Amino acid sequence: MVQCFFMMDEAPEFDPQHSFYCKQISKNLAINIYKNKSWGTYRHLLLEESPKIICDDTYAYFKTRGDMSSFEWSEGALTKQVPLKKEQLLISTYYSSINFKDIMASTGRITPEILDPHRLGQECLIGFEFSGVDLSGRRLSGMINAQGISSYVTCDSSLAWGVPDSWSLEDAATVPVVYSTVIYALLMVGNMKPGSTILIHSATGGIGLAALNLSLHYGCDIYVTVGTQEKREYLRKNYPQISDRHMGHSRDTSFELMIKRETKSRGVDFILNSLSEDKLHASIRCLARGGQLMEIGKYDLANDNSFNSLFMEREATYHGIFLDDVFRNVKEMKSKVVKHLREGIKSGFVKPLPRIVFNADEIEKSYKYMLAGKHIGKILIKLRNENKDNQIRTCNINKLEIVSNPRFQCGRHFTYIIIGGLGGFGLELSDWLVLRGARKLVLTSRSGIQNGYHQQRINIWISYGVEVKVSTDDVTTEAGCENLIKEASTLGSVDGIFNLAVVLKIALFKNQTEENFHAVLEPKAYATLHLDRVTRKLCPQLKYFVVFSSLSCGRGHVGQSNYGMANSVMERICENRKRDGLPALAIQCGAIGEVGLLARMYEENEELVIGGTLQQKISSCLEVLDVLIKHEYPVVSSTVVAEKYHKSDNPSAVAAVAHVIGIKNMKTISQYTTFPELGMDSMMNTEIVQLLEKDFEIYVTSKDVRSLTFARLTEMEAEKINRSGNTTCDKTHENTNFLIEYIRNIENSQLAAVRLNSRVGLSGGAPIVFVLPGVEGLLKPLEYLTNSLNAHVIGVQYNYKNPEESIEEIAKNALPHIEIYLSRNNPFFLIGYSFGTLVGLEIISLLEEKGYIGTIILIDGSPKYINSFVKKLFTQEKEKTDFHTAFLSKISFMIPLDVFSQHEETLLNSKRLEQGINLLTSLIPSKMSNKLEKQAAITVYKRCNAMFNYTFKNKKIISSVHLVKARLAVVGDRDDYQLSDISENLAQVITIDGDHVTILNNQDLVQAVNGIIKPPLQLSI
Ligand SMILES: NC(=O)c1ccc[n+]([C@@H]2O[C@H](COP(=O)([O-])OP(=O)(O)OC[C@H]3O[C@@H](n4cnc5c(N)ncnc54)[C@H](OP(=O)(O)O)[C@@H]3O)[C@@H](O)[C@H]2O)c1
Repeated sequence: MVQCFFMMDEAPEFDPQHSFYCKQISKNLAINIYKNKSWGTYRHLLLEESPKIICDDTYAYFKTRGDMSSFEWSEGALTKQVPLKKEQLLISTYYSSINFKDIMASTGRITPEILDPHRLGQECLIGFEFSGVDLSGRRLSGMINAQGISSYVTCDSSLAWGVPDSWSLEDAATVPVVYSTVIYALLMVGNMKPGSTILIHSATGGIGLAALNLSLHYGCDIYVTVGTQEKREYLRKNYPQISDRHMGHSRDTSFELMIKRETKSRGVDFILNSLSEDKLHASIRCLARGGQLMEIGKYDLANDNSFNSLFMEREATYHGIFLDDVFRNVKEMKSKVVKHLREGIKSGFVKPLPRIVFNADEIEKSYKYMLAGKHIGKILIKLRNENKDNQIRTCNINKLEIVSNPRFQCGRHFTYIIIGGLGGFGLELSDWLVLRGARKLVLTSRSGIQNGYHQQRINIWISYGVEVKVSTDDVTTEAGCENLIKEASTLGSVDGIFNLAVVLKIALFKNQTEENFHAVLEPKAYATLHLDRVTRKLCPQLKYFVVFSSLSCGRGHVGQSNYGMANSVMERICENRKRDGLPALAIQCGAIGEVGLLARMYEENEELVIGGTLQQKISSCLEVLDVLIKHEYPVVSSTVVAEKYHKSDNPSAVAAVAHVIGIKNMKTISQYTTFPELGMDSMMNTEIVQLLEKDFEIYVTSKDVRSLTFARLTEMEAEKINRSGNTTCDKTHENTNFLIEYIRNIENSQLAAVRLNSRVGLSGGAPIVFVLPGVEGLLKPLEYLTNSLNAHVIGVQYNYKNPEESIEEIAKNALPHIEIYLSRNNPFFLIGYSFGTLVGLEIISLLEEKGYIGTIILIDGSPKYINSFVKKLFTQEKEKTDFHTAFLSKISFMIPLDVFSQHEETLLNSKRLEQGINLLTSLIPSKMSNKLEKQAAITVYKRCNAMFNYTFKNKKIISSVHLVKARLAVVGDRDDYQLSDISENLAQVITIDGDHVTILNNQDLVQAVNGIIKPPLQLSI
């Protein structure tokens, strides 16, 4: 175990014997920090979830398109953008409103691109009008592109106008969008003349009432539709000029008859439409020859050709009315709308509409109200209280306190420096800064723009009006940093520096070099050190000093000691800066998906679990920056923790621990490998200690966990269940105990040698291969291999009914069954697997004595290796003195634990093996004993005992010996499993992925064996 001591205060020289260190060492902490005269360590603590802040400058937005409940307030930045552009006004908003377009945008019925083709404007697409007070105290109302449900708005001065003294700001907020729409539609597009006939659908809505007022002013012959009796009553009361005969129903097509009847089938000159489907068809049929339909509701009608013939028949025209066109249009167009509007206010047809007012915390409610379609007039959102007498004449405006989500925003006059800005994350961060308002960027790189992608990203920012500089100043030197900062300052005062530069040199610590350390430290540690010094001197106004560290630093990574150190230095610099009252933030990122160094290393879409974390999408990395950047902590972390285990998902301790370590398939690992070797880090260690204690009542220390294996954990769990009297009989330990698996699967077989299927038929020419199975004596586990061999394959079966007592005896009995296939002219091969390697080596010794020389392939076995394996397997039964007791104890897993506890003593004290096995099989529930014949237990016991006692005592083997071993060793041993001690001719050692069991199903094994047994090439001269 490695324990690190970081002495940040003065302390005695390090000496493990010194009392100052002794106690701390005994705590077994990996990281020990001595700071401010006390000991501590590093831990990751969860940040409180999306902390909210109280804001004066804030705006409403919906987090998820289509989800009405996702309205939230977000910290705004308009007040930070002063001085404004000359044509802009900054308004403190008193009222905003909800329009039908807001519903369309928030429900996702129109795409952001339609509302704003510009990417910069697509983040918040709601709120198009306001009333409020500008910096000089003028009461104004007007329109904006979006983000109008906001405590402040910056608007184009040509789209704002003064509020008449007789109006309140609440009155004023009912006017802009609806009147502008009808002015634009009827006067500017439709060129409506006095005396025209007009059908106004949904006449009590905001637009309907505005159109009614305008049409009345123009002396039009007006027809209306409304949806409810209440709305009809409203019109009767407030618009007595409209006769009942001119009032139709907007929820069906009956209005068509009304128009035909009242216009004597002539139809109307104008229709202000918001109806759809059959009501839309009926509307078109209501148009007079040459009439115009002004569509204010549907954005996609223009694409619907089915209406063409209806319009053509009447020589009528369709107009989709997009007020957005006015916003995007030349100044003259905007001025024309506002001019009409001002005139309308003066002449009196533009007048405040009825309204319902919601408070800032009722936005969702206000949307639902509009969707219900019951309102008359406008729906407003109130942000500030105005004086009752409408006498706001000064800019003495109260600050608001609205609970909002924090949001990072750049000032457009400031400069932002991104070190490593052309890297994967660097480009995305730069883009994010641009979306957050940055208009001056300096990106650094050692070699500058290298490809079309770099240039393309930069061109896009330039098209948004961003000044972009790419600097190749050497940030690893103080002079380089100074030059960089000075040059960047010529664009504008430096507001933020983000260091994302990185160089990786991955290698185990013992293989790292001094050069590697320098290369990795340079862009992170050295650069940050210089930037710290230089900015203290040159950037007193600096607000953001952000460095990107890594979870490799926070949690460690075996191949990244130098990278961990480089990041750690940056973090310590941030801590010092924070202590000195300067801005500083180090963000430990976990693996990032899609872009950057890790994404380049792994295949697309591959889900990686690294140190218990998953890749974090770059969009998510950027989203959390809003929160992290606002925190006061100098070091924070942003990672996606891989799904935590739940006890219900993992009813066994083995499965739960495997989940924590990130092992998906237990077959791919060795049960005897320690958890650290399987990738457990210190965080996982803590989690394992806790979950074993909490969920399984298995008590271990962190130190114990470091030497734990799955095999040992299986036993501990069984012991635990045993003690607690669990009666479950299904607790088999799949994949954790080879032996149990084998015994349960054993089958009767009498033939000593059987011919097996392979790639060759009965024809001659191919070599003969004899296969010697493992301890279970079954050839089935070897089927994948034998089926694929380019050889005649003979399977050797050991005696099941009368098992031999030793390996030598098994070999002697098998020999005649092999010999009958041999001829001295033909090559032969033996393949032994596990236990079978021992039998094979004995057989080949016997054959060599008879003058045969062949080849033996040993699959994951050798005398020394198998012997250690068996010893390890059985000596874990610590208290058992003799082998048969250890064996009985091992296979007693199959007995229900309550039964076992009653009989444990008798069973484990059985003097004779048969006696013990008799008892054992009688205690196993019938559904399992079907699978465990007494004979199987006796046979396997004998073979295990034979392995336990076996040593190779023959002369060194002359035949060629090949070892194919599993990458995951059951027991540690020398590379050749000490075969060179018994072989004169150890031809090769091949390592194949997998463990002692899974190696058999690996295609590489087939290839390796076929490679060895292929007949030598016949050379012809
Ligand atoms: N990607 C991840 O999964 C991940 C995970 C944890 C932490 N991080 C951290 O996130 C940051 C960004 O990583 P990334 O994935 O975007 O890496 P990246 O794609 O490899 O980009 C890093 C950039 O650093 C630049 N660089 C190296 N030395 C430099 C120097 N002396 N001066 C200026 N630029 C230099 C390189 O550009 P030139 O060759 O043009 O100089 C390179 O493009 C790093 O701090 C990294 O440690 C990333």
